[in-house]
Amino acid sequence: MYLLPLLFVLALRPLLVSAGWGYTDDGSNYVIDVGSKLVFKVSKNNGDINSIVYGGTEYQGYSGKHSHVESGLGKSTVTITSYTSPAYLIKVTVTYGTLVHYIVVRYGQNDIYLLTNKGDTSVAASRFILRLKANILPHDSSMSDFYDEGSATIEASDVVRNSRGDTKSKHYQGSNYGRVMDFDYVGKTTGSVGVWLIRSNHEKASGGPFFRSLVRRCASDGEDLYEILFYSMGHTDPERWGLQGPYILSFTDGDTPKTALFARNANWSWFDTLGIKGWVADSARGYVTGAGIVNMKPGYTYTAALSNPDYQYWGVAASGGGAYSIKRVVPGTYKLTVYKEEYEVYTTSITVTAGSATSLSTITPDSDPSDVKAIWRIGDWDGTPGGFLNFESTPYKPTYMHPSDPRLSSWDPGDFTVGKTAASDFPGYMWKDVNNGHLVYFKLTAAQITSEKTIRIGITEAFANGRPTISVNGWTSPLPSASTQGGTRSLTVGTYRGNNHIYSFSVPASAFLTDVAQWNILKITIISGSGTAGYLSAGISIDCMDLY
Ligand SMILES: *[C@@H]1O[C@H](CO)[C@@H](O)[C@H](O)[C@H]1NC(C)=O
Repeated sequence: MYLLPLLFVLALRPLLVSAGWGYTDDGSNYVIDVGSKLVFKVSKNNGDINSIVYGGTEYQGYSGKHSHVESGLGKSTVTITSYTSPAYLIKVTVTYGTLVHYIVVRYGQNDIYLLTNKGDTSVAASRFILRLKANILPHDSSMSDFYDEGSATIEASDVVRNSRGDTKSKHYQGSNYGRVMDFDYVGKTTGSVGVWLIRSNHEKASGGPFFRSLVRRCASDGEDLYEILFYSMGHTDPERWGLQGPYILSFTDGDTPKTALFARNANWSWFDTLGIKGWVADSARGYVTGAGIVNMKPGYTYTAALSNPDYQYWGVAASGGGAYSIKRVVPGTYKLTVYKEEYEVYTTSITVTAGSATSLSTITPDSDPSDVKAIWRIGDWDGTPGGFLNFESTPYKPTYMHPSDPRLSSWDPGDFTVGKTAASDFPGYMWKDVNNGHLVYFKLTAAQITSEKTIRIGITEAFANGRPTISVNGWTSPLPSASTQGGTRSLTVGTYRGNNHIYSFSVPASAFLTDVAQWNILKITIISGSGTAGYLSAGISIDCMDLY
């Protein structure tokens, strides 16, 4: 009989659980030991993570600042719970008004799982910020987010020119990141310690698959990694409410993080019974399978994306045939958009139900502007300024440099002559105050000048209500109205990603020169009553321009 209590104790603790696993209360903090190499502290007052020790070294914090949602929550209700099933787990719950934030660890894993449920507008929650001590992780002046000692501010408080003349900003994603769909994690390694923030699936974030936003900042006083929950900069999608996560702070012994933790791979079934507010188990989700996309243009990636006021998802179509799948979708009615690169070439409405597939038959894109046979075309319709001056190749330099950066070519190259000048000599961005009044020379045949023609200018983003108006020889177009775009900076903070919009001008036959040996002169003029000066004057990002 005396064996029973001993067996009971053994049953509670697997034999391999290290003595360190568990938490203690030091009066101010819950001190959590994952039973491996990671020990961290969570403030019982406000849920801040105010110490992160990995392998005996403190990584967290600078200037008295901690790691937390936004810039820290106020006095919160902070509780802690241990689990032995479905695994050895510890969960901290931080409740601040309508916001609930969770910090979860699993026995033996050097990973901190973070989840944030934003209830409504009453609590600002645009990000989680992991603040790291200075000079532990490698950095140098080649990094797009590195503010070195010699930096001088050139725009707002967040864009600088550094000691070697390069422009830097926390907004610049750098060549490793880019669009949300392009990266699984941010972070750095010393070679022997890796510190990573693995992003969530962004189903409650916004901006869609091509959203570009800040991911990290590095300076001599410390550095930051971010999970963006909602960020209005260069952004046109509504904010969504509810649970985001898990996003994961992961430590390694120098390697990149485990791919099993990436949002696109993870199996989170072990969260199903943890009482996370807003958690939707995979069993309550459905998925979408698409048979294919016809008439796919070679050289472009096609992406199928779902969006409604509550959720967003995406899946990349196979390059041959265009089959796609979109996984782990919360049931509901969605707008499905097929993008050719970043241009919407098809939309429809679909419904996703729990536990089953919504199977879509082959889609034929019906709104690709390149299906119109043009007399001439500058650039290509892909929803990006790719191919134009300063956008010759990816990663596009203006996504990690200010437009004033000396590494860029002058935004005001010579006039464009159709049939002679390369698209790479046509400016991808135009501003009222920088390179306005750009000229395009073209000829038409005697047959072509007998009828009205259409000139289209497609934009991917506008700053300060910038929009193009045109003249052809002596004819001047009506003044178009502004497109719908976000109200913040965009072109100067590393993104061209706004709402695609096509300005279409009907040019009467009488506008064209009757002497077909002569060059017609088209002038593009950016107009707006808004904006300030220089690169913060009204501007546009150009996708493509054509005449038919
Ligand atoms: C996820 O993990 C659970 C528990 O291990 C397992 O039962 C389930 O089959 C897994 N789901 C998938 C899709 O692999």
